[in-house]
Amino acid sequence: MKKIKKIERKEDIETIKKAVAGNPENKKLVNQDSLSKDNVKPKVLPEKKDIGKIVKGKKTDKSRNILESYFIKSEGNMDVSVKIRKKETMIIYDLEIPKVDTATEVLLEDVRNELISVTTVGMREIVDPDAVEGIRKKFVENAGAMLEKKIPTIEKDTKGVLVNKLMQDMLGLGEIEFLVNDSNLEEIVIPSAKEPIRVYHKKYGWLRTSFSIKKEDEIINYSNIVARRVGRQITVLSPLLDAHLVSGDRVNAVLYPISTKGNTLTIRRFARDPYTIVDLVGNKTIDLNIAVLLWLAVEYEMNVIVSGGTASGKTVILNAMMPFIPPNHRILSVEDTRELMLPDFLYWTPLVTRSPNPEGKGAVTMLDLLVNSLRMRPDRIVLGEMRRKEEAMVMFEAMHTGHSVYATMHANSAAETVNRLTNPPLSVPANLLGAVNLNVVMFRDRRRGIRRVLQVGEFNVNGERADANIIYRWVPEGDKIIKHGETSKFFEDISRNTGMTQVEIDKNLADKKEILSCLIKNKIRSLSEIGKVMNYYYSDKELLLKNVRANNIKLFSDKKETTKENKKTNVKVNSEEN
Ligand SMILES: Nc1ncnc2c1ncn2[C@@H]1O[C@H](COP(=O)(O)OP(=O)(O)OP(=O)(O)O)[C@@H](O)[C@H]1O
Ligand SMILES: [Mg+2]
Repeated sequence: MKKIKKIERKEDIETIKKAVAGNPENKKLVNQDSLSKDNVKPKVLPEKKDIGKIVKGKKTDKSRNILESYFIKSEGNMDVSVKIRKKETMIIYDLEIPKVDTATEVLLEDVRNELISVTTVGMREIVDPDAVEGIRKKFVENAGAMLEKKIPTIEKDTKGVLVNKLMQDMLGLGEIEFLVNDSNLEEIVIPSAKEPIRVYHKKYGWLRTSFSIKKEDEIINYSNIVARRVGRQITVLSPLLDAHLVSGDRVNAVLYPISTKGNTLTIRRFARDPYTIVDLVGNKTIDLNIAVLLWLAVEYEMNVIVSGGTASGKTVILNAMMPFIPPNHRILSVEDTRELMLPDFLYWTPLVTRSPNPEGKGAVTMLDLLVNSLRMRPDRIVLGEMRRKEEAMVMFEAMHTGHSVYATMHANSAAETVNRLTNPPLSVPANLLGAVNLNVVMFRDRRRGIRRVLQVGEFNVNGERADANIIYRWVPEGDKIIKHGETSKFFEDISRNTGMTQVEIDKNLADKKEILSCLIKNKIRSLSEIGKVMNYYYSDKELLLKNVRANNIKLFSDKKETTKENKKTNVKVNSEEN
């Protein structure tokens, strides 16, 4: 009681607020830096758009070996600061986790106990993503009301920060949630309680963080939370878990002693803001010619296979092609883990596989879903990754029965794609390969840290043999994508499907180029913006072209107005090299 009284005093609340919300001076420093670059008036608080962006540290930071610093936005106005520091030969990811003082801890513990008794959560609510949203809302309301009751003078910001802390502890993964909110991270690994958490940073690769989870029990507890949310268990008898958080992030857990050093959690962050075709032209992954060719292929229901090595960007390209699908087509996607993200207006039913429970029951395989999807009257079928013969056979059958199919598979070139498809274990008869209209091959240059379209090709079938015909290819010298050969059947297939002449097809490609160039020029890049553009394209193409030609982007831009900034040409957006 005594301690709670202490916190009622105004100064204490100020102290907590400062401690929790980080140092305002830092915010000022970071923001002035980033904002002055754009010639806008400096502001004290970070804008939403700046959060999570990398902002170079000030000169004075260099002496403290700080390479970069930025803020991560969390719910409830809790912005925490990240500093990437050089320490001897290592680079450290330093997170300034807000600490609350003992008095506040006691208060929060009180609120926690009361909350447990009032916020009852049923099993159905735990596994249903929509219900989870409801629980969060209920939770925020209850926690807020309790804090107000205990500290009648509490300020809105302080309340937000404390509610967020309670949510992280009770519904989420505690302090790890800060990392999950950092859009610069791809992977977060808790190796054990003995070691610091490690993260895979988009720019720096693997980094050691400055903190760890203190107890092995806590890691087990987090694994249990994740497991319960998907209606599964992780125990000594079934110590492996692969599951998804409601946010889409994937969590893998391996318990001790299978992971011999301690309990291990690996979290792969799901991209909240996916790369779109405009980003991919902007960061030179593909060029405009290939972008419009893909658009044409998707519009006129051609079948496309994206191949490439591990993490070469196959799923990213596949996802960037999806907004080209006309809005009235039914799309079914089948994946092992939910990675695809499509604009809202599309008519899309995403399906995911499920692994069996500990008794070996309840599995739903990719093949089950593929076979079932054919009964759901789809126009387009998207297959996350083709690995097995049965899946390949169903997919080719789908192509031959008039569905438009998009899939990814592992192969490093168009020729290797043909080889892998026609040889064991896939063993697709070569004559079926003619159904594939385009093969896009992705490549990752690890040394330079870049991803490129290596080849765009088609498959030619001669009797019992299939061969790859390369149309475009990437040349490392000069980092360019060049025309390699003529298509032998791609345009013929489009003509046959649509009745268009080659002149009409060329005009269609030129219109598409005009539209994409306008988007690139004006930095119209988000999924929702591209979605809107495509909606106009398929409902009133002439209106869209008229606006594009007048550079009138109001029709589809999420930005409020056309500013001078928008008129700059060829601005790199969401670039991996940046
Ligand atoms: N063109 C690109 N530019 C920048 N980053 C990219 C690009 N393509 C992919 N990435 C990043 O690389 C990572 C892997 O991409 P993606 O999942 O598409 O690869 P993949 O080939 O499908 O991998 P896997 O073999 O695991 O299926 C992601 O974090 C993604 O954000
Ligand atoms: Mg993939």
